[in-house]
Amino acid sequence: MVDNIEKLECLIPTRMKSGLGYDIIIGRELDEIIIAELSGNTFLVVDQNVYELYNSKFKFDRMGNRIYILKSGEFSKSWKYAQNIATKMLETGCNRQSKIVAIGGGVTGDLSGFVASIFMRGIKIVHIPTTLLACVDSSIGGKTGINLNGYKNILGAFYQPSKIIISTNFFSTLPLREIKCGLGEIVKTSLLSKHIFDYVNTSVSKLLMLDSQTVLDTVKLCIEFKDNITSSDERETSLRKILNVGHTIGHALESINKFKLSHGEYVLCGIELETKLARELNIIDEDYYKVIMHLLNIASTPKIKIKNIDKLINIMKADKKNTDGKIDFIFAKSQGETQEYQIETKLKALLEAVI
Ligand SMILES: NC(=O)c1ccc[n+]([C@@H]2O[C@H](COP(=O)([O-])OP(=O)(O)OC[C@H]3O[C@@H](n4cnc5c(N)ncnc54)[C@H](O)[C@@H]3O)[C@@H](O)[C@H]2O)c1
Repeated sequence: MVDNIEKLECLIPTRMKSGLGYDIIIGRELDEIIIAELSGNTFLVVDQNVYELYNSKFKFDRMGNRIYILKSGEFSKSWKYAQNIATKMLETGCNRQSKIVAIGGGVTGDLSGFVASIFMRGIKIVHIPTTLLACVDSSIGGKTGINLNGYKNILGAFYQPSKIIISTNFFSTLPLREIKCGLGEIVKTSLLSKHIFDYVNTSVSKLLMLDSQTVLDTVKLCIEFKDNITSSDERETSLRKILNVGHTIGHALESINKFKLSHGEYVLCGIELETKLARELNIIDEDYYKVIMHLLNIASTPKIKIKNIDKLINIMKADKKNTDGKIDFIFAKSQGETQEYQIETKLKALLEAVI
């Protein structure tokens, strides 16, 4: 009986209203809702792998010329692809009433959101995220952007979607490595909420096995949490900064390694190194430190050799979040508690101690 109720719950989509006013639909079987979104004055940007895997199901080709199939990978988050998409939109008669539907991971979402924010001074965008990482994190909160000269997210805008449609069915085709990348952002979120940490810590194995109910519950928890934060501080002037746990080092590693690994993997490495820094600075509770390391181990956090610490620090200095020339960190302290910490001069010695 309980099993049947759970199965039924999995099939009924959850409809939420973001604190910023847009609709969020979360469920497993959302095919009809997705197909309906592709009608009308719409331009589709779809990740190439997603196109190949799902064209037969969703008939993306019926968009005619109003489709841009985006090469997979971080390098697509660039000015070149933003321009290509905008050019094709113009050529196919898109106007201010058009909307973009972005179907893919965080790369597709960030790039399409950026184009939507500047095309004819801004048109609607609907996100249909297809990776675990994009469903639990990047599709929410309206951060859009592209990389510039090897630096992450330098050009971009805060630009909210008109709708987000999250179907966990897409995860069935994700390689395990991508599930673990999603776990990177889930672990990050869990460091900010005692409740989510307890949940993730006890259900991480089920999550990696893509147990339906666990996946749905995790996605909902992360989305509700991020939406609460981003709705109260849309432009990251204060509270929203906590979402950057692990990202100060993570983003710098991503740039220095020229995006060889995936974003989620760099986030995992960033969380590991920043948590070690917090320990070096006597900020984090020791038992909590051990549990975080255990979680990072389960997520197969990659071991990255850092050959040039000075270069890494220089990249961190260019981080948008910094103030007064100091590098801003958000350190995990105890369950559900973080501490903002600025480091000016002793970062090199600290990093040498933890690497
Ligand atoms: N805007 C934000 O707030 C925010 C937050 C976190 C991360 N990000 C950005 O998100 C990006 C990372 O996102 P990502 O991890 O989704 O990467 P991604 O978009 O590159 O997707 C990862 C891989 O999964 C493939 N893929 C996508 N969906 C699939 C599916 N259903 N089945 C099989 N393969 C599939 C893609 O082709 C790609 O190869 C980074 O650029 C990062 O900076 C943005």
